[in-house]
Amino acid sequence: MTSKKAKKISARPFAWGPQSSMILAPSLLSADFANLASEVRTVEQAGAEWLHLDVMDGEFVPNLTFGPVVVQALRPHTKLFMDCHLMVAHPENWVEAFAKAGADLITVHAEATVHLDRLLNRIRELGCKVGVSINPGTPLPVLEEVLDLVDLVLVMSVNPGFGGQKFIESAIGKIERLAEARGSKRFLIQVDGGINAETVAHVRRAGADVFVAGSAIFGAKDRRKAIAQLRRVGQS
Ligand code: DX5
Ligand code: ZN
Repeated sequence: MTSKKAKKISARPFAWGPQSSMILAPSLLSADFANLASEVRTVEQAGAEWLHLDVMDGEFVPNLTFGPVVVQALRPHTKLFMDCHLMVAHPENWVEAFAKAGADLITVHAEATVHLDRLLNRIRELGCKVGVSINPGTPLPVLEEVLDLVDLVLVMSVNPGFGGQKFIESAIGKIERLAEARGSKRFLIQVDGGINAETVAHVRRAGADVFVAGSAIFGAKDRRKAIAQLRRVGQS
C-alpha cells in the first residue's frame, strides 16, 4: 500500500459511546458461534466500542447468518453499541424487529431496497441510529440524495458475505471522495472488510471513523493486543 501524506483528519462530527479517535467494531461473523455471549465479553473487555453484527439472508449475499433473535439474546450481556449490518434483500421487512431486539444502529444496503429514503426515515422513527451501505461495485453518487438522512455511511471494502477476504484497494478512493463530500454533514464513515494492521492506517488517513474487523480481532489469540495494535497503527 502506498503511504499517502497523512491528511489532517477533520474532528469526527460526533461519536457514540466513549470518545475515541477511532471506533473499533469487531464483527461477530468471525466469533465462536458456540459461545457468543462470552466472545462478546472478551472484545468488550479488550476495549472495543461497538459490536458489528453481520446479518445475512442467503439472498442479498451468498451466506446465511442470524436474525434479530441473536441481537435480543446478546443485548443483556453487553454494553457495546450494537451495530447491525443488514445484508438482506427487502430490509424494510426487518428493521422493526431489529429495533425491538435492541439494535442501536441499523445499516441497510442502498442496493437492497426500492424506497431508500422512506426506509432510512423509518429506522429513525424506530429510535435507532441510521446507516446506509454500498458494495464495492456501487458508485458513491447513489447516496447523493440521502447523505442528510444518515448518521453513518458504510463503505464495503470486500464483496459482502464472508470474513477473512482481501481488502479491495478501490475502497480508499471512495472513502476519500466520501470524506470530501461530507463537508459539514454529520455522518460517520465506517469501513468493513479486510481491515487489519496492514490496511487500517491507510483507511484511517482516507477519512474513516469506524473500523469493522472480524478476523483481525476475533481471529486473534490475544484480542486486547489486536485491538491495541489496530488503534496504534491506525493513528500512526
Ligand atoms: C462481510 C462482513 C464483514 C466481515 C469482515 O460481508 O460484512 O463485516 O465480517 O470480516 P474481516 O474483518 O475478516 O474481513
Ligand atoms: Zn459487516
